[in-house]
Amino acid sequence: MEKQENIFLKKSFVAITGASRGIGKSIALMFAVKFPQNSVLLLMARNVEDLESVRTELQATAPNITVLVRQYDQGKTDEGYFNGIFDSIITENKLSKDDFEQVMLVHNCASTGDKDKTALQLFDADRVRSYYDVNLCGMILLNTSFFTTFCDPSPSRVVVNVTSGASWTAVPSLHLYCSGKAARDMFFRVLSAEEPSIRVLTYAPGAVDTDMLRDVEANAWSTSYREVLKGLRQNGEVTTPEESVADLERVLEDNTFENAAHVYNYLQTAQPYLDKYLQ
Ligand SMILES: NC(=O)c1ccc[n+]([C@@H]2O[C@H](COP(=O)([O-])OP(=O)(O)OC[C@H]3O[C@@H](n4cnc5c(N)ncnc54)[C@H](OP(=O)(O)O)[C@@H]3O)[C@@H](O)[C@H]2O)c1
Repeated sequence: MEKQENIFLKKSFVAITGASRGIGKSIALMFAVKFPQNSVLLLMARNVEDLESVRTELQATAPNITVLVRQYDQGKTDEGYFNGIFDSIITENKLSKDDFEQVMLVHNCASTGDKDKTALQLFDADRVRSYYDVNLCGMILLNTSFFTTFCDPSPSRVVVNVTSGASWTAVPSLHLYCSGKAARDMFFRVLSAEEPSIRVLTYAPGAVDTDMLRDVEANAWSTSYREVLKGLRQNGEVTTPEESVADLERVLEDNTFENAAHVYNYLQTAQPYLDKYLQ
C-alpha cells in the first residue's frame, strides 16, 4: 500500500476510551509526547479520579498538549446519552473544530464478561445485554457521536478499534468477549467500506499485563485456557502496556496498514501457542 504521512505529524483532537488505566493509559502517555503542540487529548472512562491522575501525569510530561477528562459509562445506552458529547466538549472548552488538522477516536474501553461461566450457563438476559451494551452498542453510539461532530472529510479522520486475537480465535470462557470483538471488527469493516476517507486501524495489542489479563488468568473457568495464559507468562510473551503501545506507535507512524484489516502485535508469536493449547 502507498505510504501515507506519519499520523503523529498533524495537530490533532484525540479521544481515548478506557484511558484511566492499562493499555489506554499507556496510549495516552505515548500520544502526549508524539502529537504536536496544542493537540488535545480527551481521556474517557468511568473512574474520574483515575482519569485526573492520568491527566496530571500527562501534563507533567507534555505541557504543550491540552488534556481533557470526560467521565462516561459506555454501557449507558439510554436514549440520548451519547448525543452531542463531543460537540459539548468542543464548546465547553472554547475549542473550534477548525483548530485541528486531524481527529482521532481510539476505542480501547472493554470488559471480558462472565468468564467463570460456560456458553451454556448464560441465563441472565440483563447480564448478556449489559455486556454488549458496554462493548458493542455503546462503542457504536460513541463512534456515531464522534463522526457526527467531525463529519467533514477535512480534517483527516482516524479511528482505532482495539481488538484482540480472541476476535478470530474461539477461546473457552471468553464467549462474550470473542463474539463482541468479532462483531466490532466487522462493524469497522463495514464503516470502512461506507466511509473510505476514514482511516481505520483494527489493532490487537497481544497479551498485556493489565487488570483485564490478570482477571482472566484468575477467573476463566477453562483450565486449559488458564494454562495457555500461564505458558505465555512463562515464555515471556506477556508484555507491559508500554511495550505493547510501542508497537502501536510504530504502526501509526508507518501508517501503511490496510483499513479495517487485522493488525496484530505479539500475537504473531502467541498465535501458534494458542492454537497448540486450544486444539
Ligand atoms: N490486556 C490484554 O492482554 C489484552 C489483549 C488483547 C486485547 N486487549 C484489549 O485492549 C483494550 C484495553 O484492555 P486493558 O487490558 O487495558 O483493560 P483494563 O486494564 O481492564 O482497562 C479497561 C479500561 O476500560 C474502561 N472501562 C471499562 N468498562 C467501562 C465502561 N462501562 N465505560 C467506560 N469505560 C470503561 C476502564 O476504566 P474505568 O473502570 O475507569 O471505567 C479501563 O480504563 C481492550 O479493548 C482489550 O480488549 C487487551
